[in-house]
Amino acid sequence: MNHFLSVESMSKEVIMKLLQSSHQFRQHEYTFTKKLYAANLFFEPSTRTKTSFTMAEKKLGMETLEFTPTSSSMEKGESLYDTAKTFEAIGVDVLVIRHQDDDWAKELQHHLSIPMINAGAGKKEHPTQCLLDADTIYQEFGEFEGLQIVIAGDIMHSRVAHSNAALLSKLGAQIYLTGAPVFRDHQMPYPFISMDEAVEIADVMMLLRIQHERHQAQSMHLDDYHERYGLTIARERRMKKHAIILHPAPVNRGVEIDSSLVECERSRIFKQMTNGVFIRMAVLTRQLLQWGLINENQINECNESTGQSITSLCCAN
Ligand code: CP
Repeated sequence: MNHFLSVESMSKEVIMKLLQSSHQFRQHEYTFTKKLYAANLFFEPSTRTKTSFTMAEKKLGMETLEFTPTSSSMEKGESLYDTAKTFEAIGVDVLVIRHQDDDWAKELQHHLSIPMINAGAGKKEHPTQCLLDADTIYQEFGEFEGLQIVIAGDIMHSRVAHSNAALLSKLGAQIYLTGAPVFRDHQMPYPFISMDEAVEIADVMMLLRIQHERHQAQSMHLDDYHERYGLTIARERRMKKHAIILHPAPVNRGVEIDSSLVECERSRIFKQMTNGVFIRMAVLTRQLLQWGLINENQINECNESTGQSITSLCCAN
């Protein structure tokens, strides 16, 4: 049985079915008739991912257990492994985990009888974020083939950059990277261009926050970062007419993006957050179906849809 840990191993077909599921969840209301419990274990700060998982779980009719590491027995030295096994033992059906370790799931994945969903692993992976980004792009363009997508900013320390590049290139988009050379990840096999070139070619400009919390040495000082590497008003004016701006947020207004552009006409930043709820409903439903914790008769469709059944969409292989 597979946990939901990475987009690397997901086929193009599965990804597209998850985007279609997200669309179904946006259009129609579904709830589980079976009582199911989710625990959201966040060991790093989060606003969007944590609350949108909670919202997705509640919309599906699940009970949600929240968890605060600083008031848990982890303060007494308990490991992530034993914490997760405890939630399994008390009867939780699915675990949603964010942790600062790139490989937090490596051992745990072989020792749990309930599904885990990766809500962010160190600098390495943020699979539900790249799915919601893909969902937002697909809503806009209806395809990925040939789209020029620029990922801009602190690429080296960004799990969002790594997951998005892997997923969007798999779907046929052309990926470019830009940003301060000190943030370049030389292991990523995509052209590295200047921000001035980037704004001219991008259909999608995906901006990233500078992730000071993951910097080993002294943090970069930001005096001229915005002018040199950020999306300034002058650069935004040179973007293609149809081009859109994405950012996973939280946003450092005035650093990677001019504050006035966060809600400009071509920004889809808040739409990404909305889409996050529906993508997470799709991922939760897929995991619960695949692990046999729910079946198609236990998913109630509140208003009749004419589309493909949510079970067949979520269970595509
Ligand atoms: N985009 C994202 O992961 O935001 P949070 O850190 O607020 O969850």
